[in-house]
Amino acid sequence: MVGVSGASGAVLTDATVRALQAQGVPLDVVCSYYGQLMWRQETDERFRDAAARWAERGPVTVHRPEDAAAPIASGSYATRGMVIVPCSMATVGAIASGAGQNLLHRAADVTLKETRRLVVVPRETPLSLIHLRNLTTLAEAGATIVPPDPAFYLRPDSVDAIVEALAERILYALRVVPAVDQAHAWAT
Ligand SMILES: Cc1cc2nc3c(=O)[nH]c(=O)nc-3n(C[C@H](O)[C@H](O)[C@H](O)COP(=O)(O)O)c2cc1C
Repeated sequence: MVGVSGASGAVLTDATVRALQAQGVPLDVVCSYYGQLMWRQETDERFRDAAARWAERGPVTVHRPEDAAAPIASGSYATRGMVIVPCSMATVGAIASGAGQNLLHRAADVTLKETRRLVVVPRETPLSLIHLRNLTTLAEAGATIVPPDPAFYLRPDSVDAIVEALAERILYALRVVPAVDQAHAWAT
């Protein structure tokens, strides 16, 4: 499952989805209302057009954020896990409190209760104590927190290179691909 919330980072969502599809992973996608607004602000397309583009590359089911009866709201719907990319602090707080208000929150809640892999890619700076405490709560509940920090030691020569390296990190956090030996990549 891929959750998209109203933080900055549509380009990172797109790279992550395409990398997952390159690995042949079928996707369930849910984007919050604010995530859809952000998508339009950061890209030249509507979120639904991005989803249609992904659907041409592999199996993608897009769920409406208000659809509480969607299959991904249930623990009996088997998934390999979930990534929330980007993850707003509002969504971090909703999941950490257990008081989710949309399908994205519910899918994350289910992922944790079923002890499946939840990867959270938070996007905010600076982080308040409340943000840090909520992220800590998610980590204590089993989530992996993957801040989208550029690997400058790889000497990226473009934003695309930074984004591709981050997507690779996210796929490793999901255990979809093996770890990249970045120290070796740096040394060579
Ligand atoms: C232009 C813009 C950029 C934003 N960027 C962020 C961000 O990077 N991180 C964040 O936590 N919230 C950000 N927000 C605020 C969230 O969109 C807001 O808290 C919203 O309620 C999040 O809802 P959601 O988590 O359901 O998507 C931004 C809002 C706007 C209008």
